[in-house]
Parts: sequence; structure tokens; C-alpha cells
Amino acid sequence: MFMSIQIRSMRPKTYVLGVWQDSKRVSNALSPWNGVCLEAIASPNFSGKRGETTIIGSVLFVGLGKKGALKRDDLRSLGGSVVRALGKAELRSVSINLHLTIPQGIANEKELGQLVAEGMTIASWRVDQFDGSATKRESKLGALQVTSKSKKVLGGLTRGVILGNAVNDARRIAATPPNICNPPWMAKEAKKIATKCGLKCSVISYAQAVKLGLNGIVNVGKGSQEKPCLIILEHNPRKKKNRDEHLCLVGKTITYDTGGYSLKISNGMKGMKYDKNGGMGVLGAMEAIANLNVPARVTAILPCAENMVSSNAYRPDDIIEMYNGVTVEVTNTDAEGRLVLADGLAWACKQIKPTKIVDMATLTGGVVVALGSFCAGLWCNNAKLKKQIESASKNTGERVWELPLWEDHRDYMRAKHADLHNSAPARGAHPIQGAAFLSFFVDKDIPWAHIDIAGVSSVERDRGLYCTGPTGWGVRLLAELAESQ
Ligand code: BES
Ligand code: ZN
Ligand code: ZN
Repeated sequence: MFMSIQIRSMRPKTYVLGVWQDSKRVSNALSPWNGVCLEAIASPNFSGKRGETTIIGSVLFVGLGKKGALKRDDLRSLGGSVVRALGKAELRSVSINLHLTIPQGIANEKELGQLVAEGMTIASWRVDQFDGSATKRESKLGALQVTSKSKKVLGGLTRGVILGNAVNDARRIAATPPNICNPPWMAKEAKKIATKCGLKCSVISYAQAVKLGLNGIVNVGKGSQEKPCLIILEHNPRKKKNRDEHLCLVGKTITYDTGGYSLKISNGMKGMKYDKNGGMGVLGAMEAIANLNVPARVTAILPCAENMVSSNAYRPDDIIEMYNGVTVEVTNTDAEGRLVLADGLAWACKQIKPTKIVDMATLTGGVVVALGSFCAGLWCNNAKLKKQIESASKNTGERVWELPLWEDHRDYMRAKHADLHNSAPARGAHPIQGAAFLSFFVDKDIPWAHIDIAGVSSVERDRGLYCTGPTGWGVRLLAELAESQ
């Protein structure tokens, strides 16, 4: 299903109301709909189980489940159920009035609107860019017009759609295959998005990167015919909540990861178009931050490269001097993400001197083994920043789990013939090795967090709100983090 969602004040054709599974009485607030509510409750085909829907007259009822069991995150799923039912019934204009039944204790009216709209927007998206003449799928459903009787809900709905659209934009680019999406294409796409939503965008070209000594990015990307680059996006509004804060987001943007000469084996390469998803989470977050006019200064850095095999490619045993002067012996060309990120982080520390840095990356297969697709791995050197990330994560439902980073882990990354190796001889504590490596490229006094999203950035089959493909993980988390600055 694909449907664009438009929020506006208008006279709707359909009303959405919620019904509790265990309610036998209709609340006073629902009095104009008393009759149909009683009918819905009495219907043998509708028990009010969470997510169940039925249409009676001009009302779409959605089950809220048992009172007391409904949580904030469930409101997103309800949005998904509502949008699917509307799509099936070919209804195109609707008023969301769930606030009449859902108490403010779960979410206030604005939050309720936001959560439901996030769910509606995320659930109504699918990968349809490459539907050819042989695809037999339901056609695009066009626009769904959404309103609410409550002004506050309406405001929340608008916010939710902005966030959901940014998630979907990140997913659209993430899903674009490597025969189209290479570093130059990515730079163009970032510029397009920046122009559309009012961000400043600049690109450090391959030639400039060579001159500047961004040798992590240069070496990882030089084997490809499509040369690497560093993309910079800036949001610097006149109105800022805190003048001195400057948040920097860095996203691993490997448009394809073959592993390089340490070639990925068997089917391990399949899906590596998603190795740019850290960068796509950052890009989507910047789109949301701009469209929501977040009153905080935020700069995004996307080190972008394609990791290929060719006579120009870097190889195991190469020793590279990185942007900050640290030397690295390449022990594995498949540990390329940390090399491009390291330059991105070091460049950010030197050139933009942010007050906080968060990087996000599909960095290791090891984090998938450790945490599965339940949450992302988190490392953070600062208690306040960690708290802010965890609180944003609680609000958006994008879960993170902290893993350790000790001096022992850092020592593990030291090499014999250079300062560091990019992959230690033994695979133990693999995701931590990545974080430990990166720590050598961040100034000690800057609060920094690293988020490894290898397990959560895509789903292999339809799951909850998400269809098979990229999830846009981190877009809402980072936008929320920026709002808390
Ligand atoms: N892009 C991969 C990590 C990855 C693996 C993401 C599976 C999503 C799913 C990364 O560049 C990589 O290849 N990491 C290696 C590092 C190793 C060679 C040091 C890994 O995790 O095996
Ligand atoms: Zn790799
Ligand atoms: Zn990679």
C-alpha cells in the first residue's frame, strides 16, 4: 500500500473512534456517535481487540484492547491499523478522534496525534520505486486527507506526518540499489533534500579529500569508479534554545560494501546496499529537524564511499595516515566503516568544533549477534548525553542498549607497525572493537556517542509498521535528540 498523508482542516467523510475491549458503556464525549458506538460494541464480529477495525456508517472503529494495557508505542500501531483499514475501504478523508476515548495519562492530545500520524505514515509506505510493467500490485492509493475535531490533535498529526515523511525519505534512498545510488548520486540527492527543506549543503570532493588528507575516506573509496566524498548538511536557525550548543551527527554512508579484497563470502554481500543506512538515518533526521524548525544548531557529516575491488583498491597490509595524524594498518578491508567514520569524526572535531557528537552506523555483524534486531548498540563517554539519548529513545520506541568501552578495549586496537589496526587479530568483542577504534578520532573533551544499527536498520520480512526493507531507524531518535538540546 502506498498513500501520501495530508493533514488539513476540512469536513471529513469518515470519523475514527476507539473502542475498549472491556467497555460496555459509551463515554459522554461520544454522545453524537452513541448509536453506532453501541452497535459496534454489540457486533459479534468486533471485540475491541487492539488493532481490530470495523466500519459502521461513517465511523471507523478501532479496537484499543484492554484498558490499562495500552501504551504510548501502541498508538503508532493503531495508526498503522487505521491507515490499512482506510486503504482497504477506499476511504480518502477522515477525522481522527481517538482522544475522545484514550485518556491523557497515556499521551496528551498533541502526542496522541503525533504517534498515530507517525504510525499512519510509516505503515502506508512501501518500496515502489522499481515497480515495472510486470508488477501486479494494488496501485498507489493517492492522498489521504486527515483532520481532527481537536486542534491539539491536529497539531500533533502534522508533527507526526513530518517525522514519518522524513523516515520514509530515508527509507526511499536506503532502498535505492547500488547500480543507481553511488557516492556522486548520494551527494546530488542530499543537495535536493537540502534545497527542499532549507538546509545548507556542501560537498568535499574526492580531489579535495585527497588534498585535505581525509585518507580513511579516500582509501576505502578509491577502488570504485565512483569516487568517495564527504557531504555536509547544516541547520543553523536564528532562534536557538541554547546558543552555545552545537550538535554534530555523523552517519556511515557506504553505498555498497563488497568487503573489498577481504571479500564478503557466499551470500554475505546481499543486502549491503543497506550499509548506508546510518547516513540515511542522519539525513532523514536533518530533514525532520529542518521541517520542524528545531531551535538548535545541528550539523551532519556523511562520509560516503563504495567499498569495491579493483587495481586501485586499498588492500590488507596497507598503512594509512588518517586525517588526525593517527596511522592505521589495514588488517581487513571489510572493516571499512570505521575508517570513513574516523575521518568524519576527526574532521568534525577539528573543523566544526561541536559541543556533542553522535555517530550512527551499520558497523558490525557482531552487534547483530549480540543484540539481534531488538535494539541498537550504544556507546557513550558522557552521562548527560547518554541520558538524553536514552530519553529520546524511550519516546520514539527506537531502543538502544549500552555496551562497555574500557581502556583494555582501546589497547586491543593498537598495532605493531602503526598506531592502530582496523580489525584486531581475534574477533572477540567485535562491536566493541569498532567503538574502541572510533574513540581514537574524537577529541577527549567532546561528549560522544556511537550507535551501531546493523541489526535494526532493515527488516527481512514485514514486521509491525514496517514492510520488508529499510526501516529509517534513527531518524526520529536523532530529531528528538536535537529537540532536547
Ligand atoms: N557493513 C558491515 C557490517 C554489517 C554486517 C552490517 C551485517 C549489516 C549486516 C561492516 O562493514 C563489516 O563488514 N564488518 C565486519 C568487520 C570485520 C571484518 C572486522 C564484520 O562485522 O564482520
Ligand atoms: Zn565491511
Ligand atoms: Zn560496512
